[in-house]
Amino acid sequence: MFLLAKKLLFHLDAERAHNHTLQVLSLAAKFGLLSKKPMVGSNQIELAGLKFPNRVGLAGGMDKNGILLDAWAQFGFGFAEIGTVTPKPQNGNPKPRMFRLIEDEAIINRMGFNNAGLTQLALRFKQRQHTGFILGANLGKNKSTENHLAESDYCLGMQTLFPYADYFTINISSPNTPGLRELQQAERIKTLLTALVSFRNDLPLRRPVFVKIDPDLPDLDLYPVLESIGSAEADGLIATNTTLSRPGSLKSIYSAEPGGLSGSPLFDMALERVAKIRNFYGPSFPLMGVGGIDSLERGQTMIQAGADAIQVYSGFVFKGPTLIKQLALSLPLPAN
Ligand SMILES: Cc1cc2nc3c(=O)[nH]c(=O)nc-3n(C[C@H](O)[C@H](O)[C@H](O)COP(=O)(O)O)c2cc1C
Repeated sequence: MFLLAKKLLFHLDAERAHNHTLQVLSLAAKFGLLSKKPMVGSNQIELAGLKFPNRVGLAGGMDKNGILLDAWAQFGFGFAEIGTVTPKPQNGNPKPRMFRLIEDEAIINRMGFNNAGLTQLALRFKQRQHTGFILGANLGKNKSTENHLAESDYCLGMQTLFPYADYFTINISSPNTPGLRELQQAERIKTLLTALVSFRNDLPLRRPVFVKIDPDLPDLDLYPVLESIGSAEADGLIATNTTLSRPGSLKSIYSAEPGGLSGSPLFDMALERVAKIRNFYGPSFPLMGVGGIDSLERGQTMIQAGADAIQVYSGFVFKGPTLIKQLALSLPLPAN
């Protein structure tokens, strides 16, 4: 079934295929054809105070507007990260802005946080039926919000969604919003995160705050950034977002398209990041690994490198639900 759908969808432009798929799945969910009950893996995990039914999540960006929410459970995921959502709706960058690099099992995107905004997403989240599936809200800032005012966009995200989302991800690592990655600089991230964690502490419900970082920070900058994230008392890290680099091995005609690269060629970079982060913080800091996981072996390797849980985007596009279910059932327990 997946192979047939893939054959048909891969004839379409990548973004149209993505939108058609979500429309069809949304209809299926409406008629109750998709299960919202998570698949419970043999090795559930408690992370940042949350009980994850299994350790495979849908990565940010696939369901920016919360079309499926808990119905992502149908495909084997134990959790899903919804968004990136920004306070105001925005169109994102001109199309085309998403490219499949089929020969490389990779994707390049420069979507630019196209999304329907916080109010719409909150309306959708409100309809949630809690089934044990975990939903994170991946928060961004509007393109029109200057970096020195970014704090208020992220706070508005938490303020609006805290009744519904199980955790928050602060996204400061997308390469497609001009200047966003500057917020990752050690001093800025410390100020920003300290303010966000303090805002979160005053909310009536405690929602863990994760930070998603990019794979392109040189080591020299990475360690001060990790220091800052630790001292701001963020609850966990997600590594990594897409890369602006282009490995020499890429074959596709789209490989020079501007934007962030995901999928198979990102794996080694993401893995190295996860290993360094685990090494830096020691065994108990909650850490999710994401980037190029497209086989059980890669999932296992990511866990062995120190990830407590993993997330998948491109692997789901290229390999489908079989991969997710296999990972959910067979990932080993974390190394730490
Ligand atoms: C089309 C597309 C859109 C994405 N949008 C977002 C986003 O809105 N927010 C985010 O945090 N990450 C976004 N990502 C990055 C993914 O969440 C993930 O970090 C990255 O793709 C690496 O994982 P993968 O190799 O499994 O795809 C996007 C990725 C793709 C391919």
